[in-house]
Amino acid sequence: MTTDYDPIAEQYRRSKYQPWRTYIEAFTLMGLIGDPAGRAVVDLACGEGFYSRLISQKGAAKVLGVDLSEGMIELARVQEAEQEREIEYRVGDVRRLDLRMEHDLAIAAYLLNYARDRDELGAMCGGIARCLRPGGRFVTINASPVLDFRTAPSYRHYGFETRAIGEFREGMPITWTFFMEDGAFEIENYFLNVSVHEEMFRSAGFREIRWHRPRLSPEGVAVHGRDYWTCFMDHPPIMAIECFK
Ligand SMILES: C[S@@+](CC[C@H](N)C(=O)[O-])C[C@H]1O[C@@H](n2cnc3c(N)ncnc32)[C@H](O)[C@@H]1O
Repeated sequence: MTTDYDPIAEQYRRSKYQPWRTYIEAFTLMGLIGDPAGRAVVDLACGEGFYSRLISQKGAAKVLGVDLSEGMIELARVQEAEQEREIEYRVGDVRRLDLRMEHDLAIAAYLLNYARDRDELGAMCGGIARCLRPGGRFVTINASPVLDFRTAPSYRHYGFETRAIGEFREGMPITWTFFMEDGAFEIENYFLNVSVHEEMFRSAGFREIRWHRPRLSPEGVAVHGRDYWTCFMDHPPIMAIECFK
């Protein structure tokens, strides 16, 4: 992985409060997750626990967050201690994860777009499938594998920009720059297309795969007006996926 989140953990945490994160990203992902009450949930690439906390607040019986970055897990634990929620956090690599098949639901926000090739994506899908009981569900949101980021419009209006240069190929790097009050920071993702995703999900043991375009919440329209969102919704840089084991 080229992106080390340790140095940007705190800035990344604050980027979760950009309006598109709330009104599109979280609205879409939490809508697909549905009611987690009573469920055993694992949040893979949980970062500083943004979605782990939301799912715990919605009544999940058990939430486990796993992330590669010690800095992110440290931030997650600090917030856990402040809010006294029962969430377990572990440092771990999803590609090598071998939790027992005990979870009803696995979620991941921006994990799969760190796979640089089909083997790495396959290893991630294997780790995800191993966490889930038969019939369990995986819900994820990622950089879009449909958008051609080389010709994508500017998203500066929403507080970030994307950049992709060169040949449109498997593993093509995509750079995201987030503009924050105290300066900008960058994240690098990698492009893999829809059929590579589907192939890797199926080889890991997922039987049904559904793709979902991002959705805009009515509150987002009420607060910012519909025109504010036109560019994002016409050229969505993110995409959600739901898989059944
Ligand atoms: C963009 S952040 C998203 C964090 C969190 N899901 C959120 O939405 O706020 C991506 C996270 O993926 C983690 N990550 C990348 N590759 C990973 C892997 N192989 N196993 C576990 N975590 C990984 C990074 O450390 C980082 O915290």
